[in-house]
Amino acid sequence: MCGIIGYTGKKNAAPILVEGLKKLEYRGYDSFGIATADGAISVIKKEGRISNHAGNAGTLKGTRGIGHTRWATHGIPNDKNAHPHTDCTNRIALVHNGIIENYAELKRELIKRGHVFRSDTDTEAIVHLVEEEYAKQHDLPEAVRAAVSRLKGSYALLVLASDEETIVAARMASPLVLGIGDAETFIASDITPMLEYTERVIFLDDGDIAAVTRDDVSIYHNCERVERPVELIDWSVEDGKKGGFAHYMVKEIYEQPQVFYNTIRGTDDASLPDYYRMKDPITIVACGSSYHAGMVFKYLLEECCQVPARLDYASEFRYYPSPASGLVIGITQSGETADTLVALRLAKAHNCHTLAITNVLGSTVTRLADTTFYMRAGPEISVAATKSFIAQLAVLMQIINKFCGNNHSDTLLDAHTAIEEVLLMDISETVALCENARSIFYVGRGPFYPVALEGALKMKEISYIHAEGYAAGELKHGPFALLSDKTPVIALCMPGETYDVMISNIKEMKARGSPVIAIGRNGDTNLPEICDVFIPLPGANIFTQILTATVVLQLIAYHTAETLGRDIDRPRNLAKSVTVE
Ligand code: AGP
Repeated sequence: MCGIIGYTGKKNAAPILVEGLKKLEYRGYDSFGIATADGAISVIKKEGRISNHAGNAGTLKGTRGIGHTRWATHGIPNDKNAHPHTDCTNRIALVHNGIIENYAELKRELIKRGHVFRSDTDTEAIVHLVEEEYAKQHDLPEAVRAAVSRLKGSYALLVLASDEETIVAARMASPLVLGIGDAETFIASDITPMLEYTERVIFLDDGDIAAVTRDDVSIYHNCERVERPVELIDWSVEDGKKGGFAHYMVKEIYEQPQVFYNTIRGTDDASLPDYYRMKDPITIVACGSSYHAGMVFKYLLEECCQVPARLDYASEFRYYPSPASGLVIGITQSGETADTLVALRLAKAHNCHTLAITNVLGSTVTRLADTTFYMRAGPEISVAATKSFIAQLAVLMQIINKFCGNNHSDTLLDAHTAIEEVLLMDISETVALCENARSIFYVGRGPFYPVALEGALKMKEISYIHAEGYAAGELKHGPFALLSDKTPVIALCMPGETYDVMISNIKEMKARGSPVIAIGRNGDTNLPEICDVFIPLPGANIFTQILTATVVLQLIAYHTAETLGRDIDRPRNLAKSVTVE
């Protein structure tokens, strides 16, 4: 977690850092800070969000600087624990994303040698280590190299010194990308803060140390100078803006028809590894919404292709016996989720072929996996995953399609039109039932069970109303005790072999006093009779039903949270990219 940014160029660094940090806030937002060098190091750092009260942070002078937006791990969110941290001489400032596992031992050692700590963070140990090394040799890249050789854990860090033109960046298991502009260079956790300045970027590898000036970048790995390719990014500045919408989340929801279509087109000629044809065991690992996408895939794979698959939470995978062969698919929007990366590393260690499905060019997972399929979602800013979930489904449905000899190509190429229709629906009756709920149950069967899980996750994440997704048949095994008129149930009831049993389940829930909102196929005549609200979906096939049901549930969560006045794009306690295990 945490977002970091650095700038060196001809312009004043502070306003660029402030605006850049606002774009990185999805990575954490409990405090922020920036440091600039203008003869001396100046630092402004504060508890809270930079987008709410940047204060005078943008007024610092100097054409080079570093900044940080935090998701606290070590030390509560307050002013003193906010980054940047400075050394004892106040001539070196440092920002860090990651966790230093041996910081307590380093801190004890450094205190013994006379260093004074001013925060409770793990990060501060690093700046004092750099201070010692810099005092020995007055060579900042070398001082950083020596300091990081003492660290255990993960880091992306930037180091600024008052008497050095160079900003030094170092990366180990946390993302870091350089943006090459015209007489200016950017360094950040991802490309979004640099989109409006350059499209030329360099992704650092684990173990890289970069010495960055406004005109030059030198990258070292194991003390050797190395070249990393300059890549061109195709995300536009507009992708990163709200474009007239009240929140990023709703903008991203409305982008979904295009995102789905682009991803289907973009993966049309993706060459699948032989594993798909060989029908070796398939394992899926992921977290959160990506896990739900993986569960939809598992159901479809088994239903459409008769291929069994194993699905694990990435965070649990390492604690089970790992598969000895076959394909392991890691699904991760950000490409940086620590648990998913650990699971894929473990799979590789067991000689599995690894396939990453991600949205972010150059992200860590793309460096780790044997094969990468990209979603075409563009930057997703809102913490709640919406368009990235739909894009994941697009990639996964395309894999099913390939597996089935392209039998579903036409359906997939046309599915965006059904999503467009759903975006026009009026769901105000449902929102009225949800906004005062004590708890909401989402139920479905087969592939609609993970859709229910995803709908419930969206609701709890942004509205703060307790919501649970359940396999519809399970509710009577305990949760029925919670049903009442304050506990609406949202039931996904599609035609097919589970339809009749779903109707029975809905009647049972109604009989316990719960208002029931049924989501079913357009033209269904039973559901309007037995439910309080019926939401008819377009879509005559399983693919479009899954997609449209997902989008309806996103809209219900969004409008409920909006009615309640929640902080939709930045829900409390969360960060978009979970880079700690
Ligand atoms: C969903 O709305 C969440 N933001 C979260 O569950 C997310 O899907 C999860 O953290 C996994 O992220 P990833 O796809 O970037 O790996």
